Amino acid sequence: MEDNLITGAVFGRFDAERYYQTLLDCLSQIKEKTDFVPEVAVVLGSGLGHFVEAMDIAAEISYSDIKGFPVSTVAGHRGKLVFGTVGGKKVAAMQGRVHYYEGYDVHDVVIPIRVLKLLGAHTAVFTNAVGAINTDYRPGDFVVLRDHISSFVPSPLVGENISQLGERFTPVTDLYDESLRNLSLSIGQEKDIRVHSGVFLQVTGPQYETPAEIRMFRLLGADTVGMSTAIEATAARHMGMRVCAINCVTNMAAGINDSAPSHEEVTAIANKAGKDFSTLLRELITRMD
Ligand code: HPA
Repeated sequence: MEDNLITGAVFGRFDAERYYQTLLDCLSQIKEKTDFVPEVAVVLGSGLGHFVEAMDIAAEISYSDIKGFPVSTVAGHRGKLVFGTVGGKKVAAMQGRVHYYEGYDVHDVVIPIRVLKLLGAHTAVFTNAVGAINTDYRPGDFVVLRDHISSFVPSPLVGENISQLGERFTPVTDLYDESLRNLSLSIGQEKDIRVHSGVFLQVTGPQYETPAEIRMFRLLGADTVGMSTAIEATAARHMGMRVCAINCVTNMAAGINDSAPSHEEVTAIANKAGKDFSTLLRELITRMD
């Protein structure tokens, strides 16, 4: 575990030089294991890891076999990089991710997406389980992000900017790619899968929200809430990636109905939605330019 805590930023300053070296070290370890060059990086959230079954797999690497790569501690997250093709596109899928609430520094949370960009991926597709604030949504629905609110989580761009990765003041006005969003919406219509366009809000977790928080988030304009994705999308955009993100609604957010969210419910619904999710993602990757 200690080896994976790269920045130690709790007690000191973000060490940009050391951090960049860690990215390069992770990159060269992956290159030693495979010569696969991905075009698309896909991050698979809680219960959504089955997507790799739709892949024609070329290579697999456990996160724990890459020194410096953060390793997930959450049930339902596997911790493996899977390289392969989907509809002719070269894909690097992350089966499982790490979260800020696990105690990782925010810079460590974005190591994987940064390394996959350095490896060649120009497009990132993030997926995660979320609670729905918008009452038009229901469990099993998908939400392709139109925008996000990341004001309740730290920015992964804080600290000395690494100019080899991106610019100091990154615009995030149009973070989520419009054509990939429209493509996702039309695939949903065609395949009879409920896909909405919405605004996502990231919290740190790991506790679920209180009903009062959810009422506040609704006032702020959020349709969904979850514990990942916005931080990673920000780092992906910092590096100039084309970004798409798809939420899987696993529950109504706290106070929206009578039941309280639970991790068991979240993974069970995500697993159940897995077939639609795989169809949506496979078609999206196959048809994207
Ligand atoms: N809140 C936050 N994160 C989540 C939720 C939720 O209701 N469901 C799945 N991830």
